[in-house]
Amino acid sequence: MRFTPVPSLGRLLVIAAVIARVATALTIDINDEQSIKDAASKTAYGSMTWYSGNDTGGIPGAFPEKWWEGSALFMSLLLYWHYTGDDTYNPQVSQGMQWQAGNGDYMPANYSSYLGNDDQVFWGLAAMTAAEIQFPDVDGGFSWLSLAQGVFNTQIARWDPTNCGGGLRWQIFPYQAGYAMKNSISNGGLFQLAARLARYTNNDTYADWAEKVWDWSASSPLLNNKTWNVADSTDIANGCKTQGNNQWSYNYGAYLTGAAYMYNHTEKSNWKDAVDGLLGVTLDKFFPKKYGSNIMSETLCEPAEACNDNEILFKGLVTGWLAFIALLIPSTYDQILPKLQGSAQAAAQSCSGLTNNTCGVRWYESKWDGWVGMEEQIIATDVLSSSLLSKGVAPVTSTTGGTSKSDPNAGGSDASSKQGQPKPITTGDKAGAGILTVVFIGLWGGMIAWLFIGN
Ligand SMILES: *[C@@H]1O[C@H](CO)[C@@H](O)[C@H](O)[C@H]1NC(C)=O
Ligand SMILES: *[C@@H]1O[C@H](CO)[C@@H](O)[C@H](O)[C@H]1NC(C)=O
Ligand SMILES: *[C@@H]1O[C@H](CO)[C@@H](O)[C@H](O)[C@H]1NC(C)=O
Ligand SMILES: *[C@@H]1O[C@H](CO)[C@@H](O)[C@H](O)[C@H]1NC(C)=O
Ligand SMILES: *[C@@H]1O[C@H](CO)[C@@H](O)[C@H](O)[C@H]1NC(C)=O
Ligand SMILES: *[C@@H]1O[C@H](CO)[C@@H](O)[C@H](O)[C@H]1NC(C)=O
Repeated sequence: MRFTPVPSLGRLLVIAAVIARVATALTIDINDEQSIKDAASKTAYGSMTWYSGNDTGGIPGAFPEKWWEGSALFMSLLLYWHYTGDDTYNPQVSQGMQWQAGNGDYMPANYSSYLGNDDQVFWGLAAMTAAEIQFPDVDGGFSWLSLAQGVFNTQIARWDPTNCGGGLRWQIFPYQAGYAMKNSISNGGLFQLAARLARYTNNDTYADWAEKVWDWSASSPLLNNKTWNVADSTDIANGCKTQGNNQWSYNYGAYLTGAAYMYNHTEKSNWKDAVDGLLGVTLDKFFPKKYGSNIMSETLCEPAEACNDNEILFKGLVTGWLAFIALLIPSTYDQILPKLQGSAQAAAQSCSGLTNNTCGVRWYESKWDGWVGMEEQIIATDVLSSSLLSKGVAPVTSTTGGTSKSDPNAGGSDASSKQGQPKPITTGDKAGAGILTVVFIGLWGGMIAWLFIGN
């Protein structure tokens, strides 16, 4: 959301009052851990000002118009706790992540009729993160590990060998526009989830699936295992021959992170080659030289200020993943650290808006750029927390301290989760689906023209 000052007398008086106050920029000293923690506590607080799930009458974890964003918020608060030790928001995180769990697979009935595989997998990855950072399981609730397993089980049931030799479709149900496509975030998301489950549980079924998703992706126009280009999507109608080659950081990050887990898990050199290849391209493309090579930028939409809410969040996901990669593959640590530190410094400087530490979208401006929203606060929290990676313990496994309970059969019995077999659609569902589909085409498809109107 772009903040447009209304030129009324009241507004001018507010501005005058604001100018009279002391400056409120968030400045951090990258060598002073406490200054980073203090800054992250402000951005995390800021993100929670947009959360009504803890208000009287609010629904925990619910974001009716943008359900997946709840997973992005909770992931940032999990990382915040992991790296700073501040547990202020842990109760809300637990409550929201349980409330939205559906039958243990993140297909909650209120939303399931218009979810995409990508929407669902981000909740699965949030649950996986919780297990890996030893976020306590909730007594009598779904364990974090079982939630990740539930998402995995429902997604592999949708694997689609009859079109393009395999792969997940983007959307789950035929009445959604994205049903006709296979895309990188859905397949890269499942690949990453499978790789993380393989490492955590040491169960080969997950590693086999990770290999399978990777191999199919590399055989499609989505993932090029020589140039390490990651495309956005490909169409089923032409047998997945054509390539929608929009360059988004989270597509790279999804595959890169999964490869890093597979390398840590298997120590096989092909995974190290994949990590080196994808990491090189990711750092090159999304930490542009013209901003000094250490500040992350979503280069496709930021220069024109055309990033929508989803796209704003990508930098947060990717910076969080980069820190985990540095912890999983020590040889990448020195390469990644300056990127996270440079981005954290720039992000902190962007958090100087509206006298209340509102953060902006374009970190490379190193000042507030006029944007306001939960997404801006979430990504600042992600990168500030992740820049403390030297304080972070690497993601654990079931043999190195992880105690989240396993349920290999979680999820999967949910009728609405099967590919192409939606539960009967009610009128309410259709209305919801319709609106969301329009939003999704604009948001996820990168149809920039729509975005300009939207903003
Ligand atoms: C800052 O102010 C904006 C505009 O009033 C508001 O939407 C936002 O929630 C506030 N953020 C914090 C951290 O209070
Ligand atoms: C959430 O709700 C609990 C219980 O009402 C309350 O104690 C807590 O302060 C709330 N937290 C926030 C951040 O609003
Ligand atoms: C679904 O919607 C109902 C009615 O608004 C609400 O009570 C319930 O908490 C919602 N469930 C989820 C998972 O959002
Ligand atoms: C790259 O992908 C192609 C197509 O799937 C495959 O045949 C080849 O073995 C892969 N190369 C490596 C080094 O993995
Ligand atoms: C795997 O990660 C652990 C930290 O959990 C690290 O100590 C170990 O060196 C990593 N293994 C490889 C092959 O990078
Ligand atoms: C490994 O995972 C598969 C697939 O979920 C499951 O069927 C099997 O029981 C698991 N094995 C163990 C030892 O947990």
